[in-house]
Amino acid sequence: MNPDSTVSRRQFIRTTTTGSLALGWLASGQAPAAFAAETSKPALLGGTPIHQGGWMHWPQWREAWEPEMLKVYRSGKWFRGSDQRVAEFEQDYARLLGAKRCLATASGTTALMVGLHVLDVDAGDEVIVSPYTFIASYNAILSCKALPVFADTDPATLTVDPASIASRITDRTRALMPVHIFGMPCDMDPINAVARQHNLAVIEDACQAWLAEYHGRKCGILGDLGCFSFQESKHLPSGEGGAITSLSEELIDRCDAFHNCGRASGTFQGSGYFTRGNNYRITQAQAVLLRLQLDKLVQETERRRQSADYLTRQLAQIPGITPVRLPENSRAVWHLYPFRYDSAHFHGLSRDQFAKAMSAEGIPCGGIYREQYNEGLLDEAIASRGFKRLWSAQRLKEYRDSFQELKGNRQVCETTVAITQNLLLADQADLDHILAAIRKVQTHSAALAKSIS
Ligand SMILES: Cc1ncc(COP(=O)(O)O)c(C=O)c1O
Repeated sequence: MNPDSTVSRRQFIRTTTTGSLALGWLASGQAPAAFAAETSKPALLGGTPIHQGGWMHWPQWREAWEPEMLKVYRSGKWFRGSDQRVAEFEQDYARLLGAKRCLATASGTTALMVGLHVLDVDAGDEVIVSPYTFIASYNAILSCKALPVFADTDPATLTVDPASIASRITDRTRALMPVHIFGMPCDMDPINAVARQHNLAVIEDACQAWLAEYHGRKCGILGDLGCFSFQESKHLPSGEGGAITSLSEELIDRCDAFHNCGRASGTFQGSGYFTRGNNYRITQAQAVLLRLQLDKLVQETERRRQSADYLTRQLAQIPGITPVRLPENSRAVWHLYPFRYDSAHFHGLSRDQFAKAMSAEGIPCGGIYREQYNEGLLDEAIASRGFKRLWSAQRLKEYRDSFQELKGNRQVCETTVAITQNLLLADQADLDHILAAIRKVQTHSAALAKSIS
Protein backbone atom coordinates (compact mmCIF):
# COMPACT_ATOMS: atom_id res chain seq x y z
CA MET A 1 0.00 0.00 0.00
CA ASN A 2 1.15 3.47 -0.76
CA PRO A 3 -1.09 5.48 1.50
CA ASP A 4 0.01 8.71 -0.12
CA SER A 5 -1.79 8.22 -3.38
CA THR A 6 -5.44 8.84 -3.91
CA VAL A 7 -5.81 5.84 -6.20
CA SER A 8 -4.50 3.86 -3.31
CA ARG A 9 -7.03 5.49 -0.97
CA ARG A 10 -9.42 3.01 -2.56
CA GLN A 11 -6.93 0.13 -2.50
CA PHE A 12 -6.21 1.22 1.04
CA ILE A 13 -9.90 0.95 1.88
CA ARG A 14 -10.08 -2.48 0.21
CA THR A 15 -7.02 -3.90 1.94
CA THR A 16 -8.12 -2.59 5.33
CA THR A 17 -11.48 -4.24 5.05
CA THR A 18 -10.60 -7.84 4.30
CA GLY A 19 -11.22 -10.43 6.95
CA SER A 20 -13.82 -10.68 9.64
CA LEU A 21 -14.37 -8.55 12.69
CA ALA A 22 -11.24 -8.48 14.74
CA LEU A 23 -12.16 -10.36 17.85
CA GLY A 24 -9.32 -12.88 17.26
CA TRP A 25 -6.86 -13.01 20.07
CA LEU A 26 -8.99 -10.92 22.42
CA ALA A 27 -11.69 -13.59 22.31
CA SER A 28 -9.19 -16.41 22.60
CA GLY A 29 -7.88 -14.92 25.84
CA GLN A 30 -4.31 -15.78 24.85
CA ALA A 31 -2.99 -12.25 24.65
CA PRO A 32 -2.54 -9.58 27.26
CA ALA A 33 -4.88 -6.55 27.30
CA ALA A 34 -4.08 -3.89 24.74
CA PHE A 35 -2.69 -1.40 27.21
CA ALA A 36 -0.13 -3.85 28.60
CA ALA A 37 0.94 -4.52 25.02
CA GLU A 38 1.97 -0.89 24.57
CA THR A 39 5.34 -1.49 26.14
CA SER A 40 6.05 -4.73 24.23
CA LYS A 41 8.25 -4.80 21.13
CA PRO A 42 6.77 -2.98 18.06
CA ALA A 43 5.44 -5.34 15.40
CA LEU A 44 7.75 -3.76 12.86
CA LEU A 45 10.73 -4.81 15.00
CA GLY A 46 9.49 -8.37 15.41
CA GLY A 47 6.90 -7.94 18.18
CA THR A 48 3.24 -8.98 18.22
CA PRO A 49 0.78 -6.64 16.48
CA ILE A 50 -1.67 -4.93 18.83
CA HIS A 51 -4.59 -5.72 16.54
CA GLN A 52 -5.01 -8.98 14.66
CA GLY A 53 -7.78 -10.39 12.48
CA GLY A 54 -8.43 -7.48 10.16
CA TRP A 55 -11.39 -5.14 10.14
CA MET A 56 -14.92 -5.11 8.84
CA HIS A 57 -15.20 -5.96 5.17
CA TRP A 58 -16.41 -3.17 2.85
CA PRO A 59 -18.71 -2.95 0.96
CA GLN A 60 -21.15 -5.25 2.72
CA TRP A 61 -23.70 -7.50 1.10
CA ARG A 62 -26.91 -8.70 2.74
CA GLU A 63 -28.73 -11.80 1.56
CA ALA A 64 -31.97 -10.05 2.40
CA TRP A 65 -31.35 -7.72 -0.55
CA GLU A 66 -31.15 -10.53 -3.10
CA PRO A 67 -34.86 -10.89 -3.99
CA GLU A 68 -35.13 -7.15 -4.81
CA MET A 69 -31.95 -7.18 -6.86
CA LEU A 70 -33.01 -10.29 -8.77
CA LYS A 71 -36.38 -8.73 -9.48
CA VAL A 72 -34.70 -5.85 -11.34
CA TYR A 73 -32.43 -8.11 -13.34
CA ARG A 74 -35.28 -10.53 -14.18
CA SER A 75 -37.52 -7.65 -15.26
CA GLY A 76 -35.11 -6.74 -18.07
CA LYS A 77 -35.80 -3.09 -17.16
CA TRP A 78 -32.24 -2.01 -16.57
CA PHE A 79 -31.97 1.37 -18.22
CA ARG A 80 -33.00 4.48 -16.32
CA GLY A 81 -35.86 5.21 -18.68
CA SER A 82 -37.42 1.74 -18.43
CA ASP A 83 -38.80 1.91 -14.90
CA GLN A 84 -39.36 4.03 -11.78
CA ARG A 85 -36.68 2.54 -9.52
CA VAL A 86 -34.20 5.40 -10.08
CA ALA A 87 -36.91 7.98 -9.39
CA GLU A 88 -37.85 6.14 -6.17
CA PHE A 89 -34.27 6.32 -4.94
CA GLU A 90 -34.01 9.98 -5.91
CA GLN A 91 -37.16 10.82 -3.94
CA ASP A 92 -35.95 8.97 -0.84
CA TYR A 93 -32.45 10.43 -0.96
CA ALA A 94 -33.85 13.95 -1.44
CA ARG A 95 -36.16 13.43 1.56
CA LEU A 96 -33.29 12.16 3.70
CA LEU A 97 -31.27 15.29 2.94
CA GLY A 98 -34.11 17.78 3.07
CA ALA A 99 -33.49 18.56 -0.61
CA LYS A 100 -36.26 19.58 -2.96
CA ARG A 101 -34.92 17.28 -5.64
CA CYS A 102 -32.19 14.75 -6.37
CA LEU A 103 -30.84 13.47 -9.66
CA ALA A 104 -28.87 10.21 -9.63
CA THR A 105 -25.88 10.06 -11.99
CA ALA A 106 -23.24 7.60 -13.20
CA SER A 107 -20.63 8.78 -10.68
CA GLY A 108 -19.60 11.61 -8.40
CA THR A 109 -17.32 12.95 -11.12
CA THR A 110 -20.15 13.12 -13.64
CA ALA A 111 -22.39 14.71 -10.98
CA LEU A 112 -19.78 17.50 -10.64
CA MET A 113 -19.41 17.84 -14.43
CA VAL A 114 -23.18 18.11 -14.92
CA GLY A 115 -23.49 20.57 -12.02
CA LEU A 116 -20.70 22.80 -13.31
CA HIS A 117 -22.27 22.90 -16.78
CA VAL A 118 -25.69 23.77 -15.39
CA LEU A 119 -24.21 26.52 -13.21
CA ASP A 120 -22.83 27.94 -16.45
CA VAL A 121 -19.14 27.24 -15.90
CA ASP A 122 -17.83 27.59 -19.44
CA ALA A 123 -14.54 27.45 -21.33
CA GLY A 124 -12.22 30.15 -20.01
CA ASP A 125 -13.96 30.47 -16.62
CA GLU A 126 -12.32 29.94 -13.25
CA VAL A 127 -13.66 27.92 -10.30
CA ILE A 128 -12.22 28.33 -6.80
CA VAL A 129 -11.77 24.96 -5.12
CA SER A 130 -10.08 23.42 -2.10
CA PRO A 131 -6.73 21.89 -3.08
CA TYR A 132 -7.05 19.21 -0.38
CA THR A 133 -9.34 16.79 -2.19
CA PHE A 134 -9.57 13.75 -4.42
CA ILE A 135 -8.32 14.55 -7.91
CA ALA A 136 -11.83 14.29 -9.40
CA SER A 137 -12.64 17.76 -8.01
CA TYR A 138 -9.86 19.24 -10.16
CA ASN A 139 -10.70 17.06 -13.15
CA ALA A 140 -14.38 17.97 -13.23
CA ILE A 141 -13.44 21.66 -13.50
CA LEU A 142 -10.79 20.95 -16.15
CA SER A 143 -13.34 18.99 -18.18
CA CYS A 144 -15.32 22.25 -18.55
CA LYS A 145 -12.09 23.78 -19.92
CA ALA A 146 -12.14 25.94 -16.81
CA LEU A 147 -9.25 26.61 -14.41
CA PRO A 148 -9.33 25.12 -10.90
CA VAL A 149 -8.02 27.99 -8.77
CA PHE A 150 -6.97 26.95 -5.30
CA ALA A 151 -7.90 28.61 -2.04
CA ASP A 152 -5.86 28.04 1.13
CA THR A 153 -6.45 25.07 3.42
CA ASP A 154 -7.13 25.62 7.11
CA PRO A 155 -4.78 23.20 8.90
CA ALA A 156 -7.16 22.99 11.87
CA THR A 157 -10.11 21.79 9.77
CA LEU A 158 -8.41 20.38 6.61
CA THR A 159 -11.09 22.17 4.59
CA VAL A 160 -10.95 25.39 2.59
CA ASP A 161 -10.09 28.58 4.48
CA PRO A 162 -13.07 30.82 3.64
CA ALA A 163 -11.03 33.97 4.39
CA SER A 164 -8.69 33.17 1.49
CA ILE A 165 -11.38 32.92 -1.19
CA ALA A 166 -11.95 36.60 -1.97
CA SER A 167 -8.29 37.15 -2.90
CA ARG A 168 -8.54 34.43 -5.61
CA ILE A 169 -11.51 35.99 -7.41
CA THR A 170 -10.83 37.40 -10.89
CA ASP A 171 -13.17 38.67 -13.60
CA ARG A 172 -13.25 35.06 -14.89
CA THR A 173 -14.41 33.47 -11.62
CA ARG A 174 -17.80 31.85 -12.06
CA ALA A 175 -18.23 29.41 -9.15
CA LEU A 176 -16.92 28.18 -5.80
CA MET A 177 -16.49 24.48 -5.12
CA PRO A 178 -16.03 23.81 -1.40
CA VAL A 179 -15.14 20.16 -0.70
CA HIS A 180 -16.46 18.53 2.49
CA ILE A 181 -13.41 16.33 2.65
CA PHE A 182 -13.64 13.09 4.69
CA GLY A 183 -17.27 14.07 5.37
CA MET A 184 -16.29 17.16 7.40
CA PRO A 185 -18.46 20.15 6.48
CA CYS A 186 -16.76 23.28 5.21
CA ASP A 187 -17.63 26.50 7.01
CA MET A 188 -20.38 27.34 4.54
CA ASP A 189 -21.77 30.63 5.93
CA PRO A 190 -18.71 32.74 5.04
CA ILE A 191 -18.32 30.83 1.75
CA ASN A 192 -21.91 31.57 0.74
CA ALA A 193 -21.45 35.19 1.84
CA VAL A 194 -18.47 35.66 -0.55
CA ALA A 195 -20.45 33.95 -3.30
CA ARG A 196 -23.42 36.29 -2.81
CA GLN A 197 -21.19 39.35 -2.69
CA HIS A 198 -19.50 38.46 -5.99
CA ASN A 199 -22.48 36.82 -7.68
CA LEU A 200 -20.85 33.39 -7.87
CA ALA A 201 -22.49 29.97 -7.96
CA VAL A 202 -21.70 27.43 -5.22
CA ILE A 203 -21.38 23.73 -6.00
CA GLU A 204 -20.63 21.56 -2.98
CA ASP A 205 -18.35 18.59 -3.55
CA ALA A 206 -20.17 16.43 -1.01
CA CYS A 207 -18.84 13.22 -2.58
CA GLN A 208 -17.64 12.07 0.86
CA ALA A 209 -20.33 13.76 2.94
CA TRP A 210 -23.60 11.78 2.89
CA LEU A 211 -25.68 13.06 5.87
CA ALA A 212 -23.00 15.47 7.14
CA GLU A 213 -24.62 18.52 8.77
CA TYR A 214 -23.84 22.20 9.07
CA HIS A 215 -26.00 24.52 11.18
CA GLY A 216 -28.83 22.00 11.25
CA ARG A 217 -28.93 21.34 7.49
CA LYS A 218 -27.42 18.54 5.48
CA CYS A 219 -24.43 19.02 3.19
CA GLY A 220 -25.63 18.96 -0.41
CA ILE A 221 -28.31 21.62 0.11
CA LEU A 222 -26.06 24.37 1.43
CA GLY A 223 -25.09 25.83 -1.95
CA ASP A 224 -26.82 25.87 -5.36
CA LEU A 225 -26.06 22.20 -6.07
CA GLY A 226 -24.49 19.38 -4.06
CA CYS A 227 -22.72 16.36 -5.58
CA PHE A 228 -22.31 12.89 -4.07
CA SER A 229 -20.39 9.73 -4.96
CA PHE A 230 -21.66 6.18 -4.49
CA GLN A 231 -18.44 4.48 -5.62
CA GLU A 232 -17.66 1.16 -3.93
CA SER A 233 -15.60 2.55 -1.04
CA LYS A 234 -18.27 5.05 -0.05
CA HIS A 235 -20.72 4.86 2.88
CA LEU A 236 -23.57 4.40 0.39
CA PRO A 237 -21.99 2.27 -2.36
CA SER A 238 -23.24 0.87 -5.65
CA GLY A 239 -19.91 0.15 -7.37
CA GLU A 240 -20.14 3.42 -9.27
CA GLY A 241 -22.84 6.05 -8.99
CA GLY A 242 -23.51 9.59 -7.92
CA ALA A 243 -26.18 12.19 -7.25
CA ILE A 244 -26.87 15.90 -7.46
CA THR A 245 -29.14 17.51 -4.89
CA SER A 246 -30.67 20.96 -4.67
CA LEU A 247 -33.37 23.13 -3.23
CA SER A 248 -34.04 24.32 -6.80
CA GLU A 249 -36.45 22.32 -8.95
CA GLU A 250 -35.35 24.24 -12.01
CA LEU A 251 -31.63 23.52 -11.59
CA ILE A 252 -32.28 19.79 -11.20
CA ASP A 253 -34.44 19.79 -14.33
CA ARG A 254 -31.51 21.33 -16.17
CA CYS A 255 -29.15 18.72 -14.68
CA ASP A 256 -31.57 15.99 -15.75
CA ALA A 257 -31.61 17.30 -19.31
CA PHE A 258 -27.83 17.61 -19.57
CA HIS A 259 -27.20 14.16 -18.04
CA ASN A 260 -29.73 12.55 -20.41
CA CYS A 261 -28.41 13.54 -23.85
CA GLY A 262 -30.15 16.93 -23.74
CA ARG A 263 -33.73 15.65 -23.47
CA ALA A 264 -36.32 18.08 -22.09
CA SER A 265 -37.14 17.71 -18.41
CA GLY A 266 -39.84 19.21 -16.15
CA THR A 267 -39.56 22.98 -16.20
CA PHE A 268 -36.77 22.84 -18.80
CA GLN A 269 -38.55 22.34 -22.13
CA GLY A 270 -37.78 23.01 -25.78
CA SER A 271 -38.29 21.42 -29.15
CA GLY A 272 -35.93 19.13 -31.05
CA TYR A 273 -32.33 19.13 -29.89
CA PHE A 274 -32.76 22.40 -28.06
CA THR A 275 -29.95 21.93 -25.53
CA ARG A 276 -26.60 20.17 -25.20
CA GLY A 277 -26.25 16.95 -23.23
CA ASN A 278 -24.38 13.73 -22.63
CA ASN A 279 -25.17 10.33 -21.17
CA TYR A 280 -24.28 10.36 -17.47
CA ARG A 281 -27.15 8.11 -16.35
CA ILE A 282 -27.26 5.61 -13.51
CA THR A 283 -28.96 2.21 -13.97
CA GLN A 284 -32.05 0.75 -12.29
CA ALA A 285 -30.07 -1.95 -10.47
CA GLN A 286 -27.68 0.59 -8.94
CA ALA A 287 -30.63 2.66 -7.73
CA VAL A 288 -32.28 -0.38 -6.11
CA LEU A 289 -29.05 -1.30 -4.34
CA LEU A 290 -28.68 2.28 -3.08
CA ARG A 291 -32.27 2.47 -1.84
CA LEU A 292 -31.88 -0.81 0.03
CA GLN A 293 -28.94 0.67 1.95
CA LEU A 294 -30.47 3.95 3.12
CA ASP A 295 -31.49 2.74 6.61
CA LYS A 296 -28.08 1.13 7.02
CA LEU A 297 -26.43 4.43 6.08
CA VAL A 298 -28.37 6.28 8.76
CA GLN A 299 -27.55 3.73 11.46
CA GLU A 300 -23.87 3.42 10.53
CA THR A 301 -23.47 7.17 10.37
CA GLU A 302 -24.46 7.40 14.04
CA ARG A 303 -22.08 4.58 14.94
CA ARG A 304 -19.17 6.24 13.12
CA ARG A 305 -19.94 9.50 14.91
CA GLN A 306 -19.88 7.83 18.32
CA SER A 307 -16.56 6.14 17.51
CA ALA A 308 -15.06 9.36 16.15
CA ASP A 309 -16.17 11.29 19.24
CA TYR A 310 -14.54 8.65 21.44
CA LEU A 311 -11.29 8.73 19.44
CA THR A 312 -11.24 12.52 19.42
CA ARG A 313 -11.53 12.66 23.22
CA GLN A 314 -8.79 10.07 23.70
CA LEU A 315 -6.41 11.31 20.99
CA ALA A 316 -6.44 14.80 22.44
CA GLN A 317 -4.57 13.30 25.44
CA ILE A 318 -1.65 12.05 23.31
CA PRO A 319 1.15 14.58 22.81
CA GLY A 320 1.87 15.11 19.12
CA ILE A 321 -1.58 13.99 17.95
CA THR A 322 -4.13 16.70 17.14
CA PRO A 323 -7.71 15.82 16.24
CA VAL A 324 -9.39 17.93 13.57
CA ARG A 325 -11.66 20.85 14.47
CA LEU A 326 -15.13 21.05 12.91
CA PRO A 327 -17.00 24.30 12.25
CA GLU A 328 -19.34 25.21 15.10
CA ASN A 329 -22.69 23.45 15.11
CA SER A 330 -21.73 20.89 12.49
CA ARG A 331 -21.56 17.10 12.37
CA ALA A 332 -19.11 15.14 10.25
CA VAL A 333 -19.72 11.63 8.88
CA TRP A 334 -16.06 10.52 8.77
CA HIS A 335 -15.41 8.85 5.44
CA LEU A 336 -11.92 8.84 6.80
CA TYR A 337 -11.06 9.80 10.36
CA PRO A 338 -8.03 12.14 10.23
CA PHE A 339 -5.69 13.60 12.81
CA ARG A 340 -2.56 15.73 12.56
CA TYR A 341 0.76 14.16 13.46
CA ASP A 342 3.74 16.02 14.91
CA SER A 343 6.96 14.03 14.55
CA ALA A 344 8.65 16.21 17.19
CA HIS A 345 6.75 14.22 19.83
CA PHE A 346 7.86 10.93 18.23
CA HIS A 347 11.66 11.37 18.21
CA GLY A 348 11.55 12.58 14.62
CA LEU A 349 9.73 9.45 13.37
CA SER A 350 8.34 10.75 10.09
CA ARG A 351 4.63 10.71 9.31
CA ASP A 352 5.13 7.93 6.76
CA GLN A 353 7.29 5.90 9.16
CA PHE A 354 4.57 6.33 11.79
CA ALA A 355 1.94 5.06 9.33
CA LYS A 356 4.13 2.05 8.50
CA ALA A 357 4.62 1.22 12.17
CA MET A 358 0.89 1.58 12.85
CA SER A 359 -0.01 -0.62 9.89
CA ALA A 360 2.36 -3.29 11.21
CA GLU A 361 0.41 -3.10 14.50
CA GLY A 362 -2.73 -4.01 12.53
CA ILE A 363 -4.01 -0.43 12.28
CA PRO A 364 -3.97 0.50 8.60
CA CYS A 365 -3.54 4.23 8.21
CA GLY A 366 -1.68 6.69 6.04
CA GLY A 367 -1.30 10.19 4.70
CA ILE A 368 -4.01 10.56 2.10
CA TYR A 369 -3.71 13.47 -0.35
CA ARG A 370 -0.49 14.97 -1.67
CA GLU A 371 0.19 18.34 -3.28
CA GLN A 372 -1.38 17.05 -6.48
CA TYR A 373 -1.15 20.41 -8.24
CA ASN A 374 2.61 19.78 -8.53
CA GLU A 375 2.20 16.40 -10.18
CA GLY A 376 1.79 17.30 -13.83
CA LEU A 377 -1.89 17.27 -14.69
CA LEU A 378 -2.25 21.03 -14.36
CA ASP A 379 0.99 21.61 -16.28
CA GLU A 380 -0.40 19.42 -19.03
CA ALA A 381 -3.73 21.28 -18.99
CA ILE A 382 -2.22 24.77 -19.17
CA ALA A 383 0.22 23.69 -21.88
CA SER A 384 -2.66 22.42 -24.05
CA ARG A 385 -3.76 24.30 -27.18
CA GLY A 386 -7.20 24.95 -25.73
CA PHE A 387 -6.06 26.45 -22.46
CA LYS A 388 -3.44 28.57 -24.25
CA ARG A 389 -6.20 29.92 -26.48
CA LEU A 390 -8.42 30.70 -23.51
CA TRP A 391 -5.96 32.51 -21.17
CA SER A 392 -3.05 34.85 -21.69
CA ALA A 393 0.45 33.45 -21.16
CA GLN A 394 0.78 35.85 -18.25
CA ARG A 395 -2.33 34.56 -16.47
CA LEU A 396 -1.23 30.94 -16.93
CA LYS A 397 2.21 31.73 -15.52
CA GLU A 398 0.72 33.57 -12.55
CA TYR A 399 -1.64 30.64 -12.05
CA ARG A 400 1.20 28.11 -12.01
CA ASP A 401 3.31 30.28 -9.69
CA SER A 402 0.40 30.66 -7.27
CA PHE A 403 0.66 26.97 -6.24
CA GLN A 404 3.83 27.81 -4.32
CA GLU A 405 2.05 30.51 -2.34
CA LEU A 406 -0.83 28.39 -1.11
CA LYS A 407 -1.11 28.49 2.66
CA GLY A 408 -1.85 25.51 4.84
CA ASN A 409 -2.13 22.84 2.20
CA ARG A 410 1.46 21.58 2.18
CA GLN A 411 1.40 21.34 5.97
CA VAL A 412 -1.87 19.40 5.85
CA CYS A 413 -0.59 17.04 3.12
CA GLU A 414 2.57 16.35 5.10
CA THR A 415 1.15 15.92 8.60
CA THR A 416 -2.27 14.33 8.23
CA VAL A 417 -2.82 10.68 9.08
CA ALA A 418 -6.18 9.01 8.53
CA ILE A 419 -7.93 5.73 9.19
CA THR A 420 -10.81 4.51 7.04
CA GLN A 421 -14.49 4.54 7.99
CA ASN A 422 -14.83 0.79 8.49
CA LEU A 423 -12.55 0.96 11.54
CA LEU A 424 -15.13 3.28 13.11
CA LEU A 425 -17.74 0.54 12.84
CA ALA A 426 -15.73 -1.76 15.12
CA ASP A 427 -16.50 -2.20 18.81
CA GLN A 428 -14.83 -0.26 21.61
CA ALA A 429 -12.17 -2.91 22.31
CA ASP A 430 -10.98 -2.53 18.72
CA LEU A 431 -11.05 1.27 18.91
CA ASP A 432 -8.86 0.93 21.99
CA HIS A 433 -6.38 -0.99 19.83
CA ILE A 434 -5.99 2.10 17.65
CA LEU A 435 -5.14 4.20 20.69
CA ALA A 436 -2.88 1.53 22.17
CA ALA A 437 -1.00 1.20 18.87
CA ILE A 438 -0.34 4.95 18.76
CA ARG A 439 0.97 4.89 22.32
CA LYS A 440 3.11 1.85 21.56
CA VAL A 441 4.61 3.49 18.48
CA GLN A 442 5.24 6.63 20.52
CA THR A 443 6.93 4.67 23.32
CA HIS A 444 9.26 3.04 20.80
CA SER A 445 9.53 5.94 18.39
CA ALA A 446 13.27 6.47 18.87
CA ALA A 447 14.07 2.86 17.95
CA LEU A 448 11.54 2.86 15.12
CA ALA A 449 12.94 6.10 13.66
CA LYS A 450 16.34 4.46 13.44
CA SER A 451 15.19 1.22 11.88
CA ILE A 452 12.49 2.18 9.33
CA SER A 453 13.71 3.35 5.96
C1 LIG B 1 -14.00 14.52 -2.83
C2 LIG B 1 -14.38 13.70 -4.02
N1 LIG B 1 -14.83 14.32 -5.12
C3 LIG B 1 -15.21 13.64 -6.21
C4 LIG B 1 -15.16 12.27 -6.25
C5 LIG B 1 -15.54 11.55 -7.50
O1 LIG B 1 -16.51 10.58 -7.30
P1 LIG B 1 -16.53 9.28 -8.24
O2 LIG B 1 -15.38 8.44 -7.90
O3 LIG B 1 -17.84 8.65 -7.88
O4 LIG B 1 -16.50 9.75 -9.63
C6 LIG B 1 -14.71 11.57 -5.13
C7 LIG B 1 -14.62 10.11 -5.13
O5 LIG B 1 -13.84 9.51 -4.44
C8 LIG B 1 -14.31 12.30 -3.98
O6 LIG B 1 -13.85 11.68 -2.90
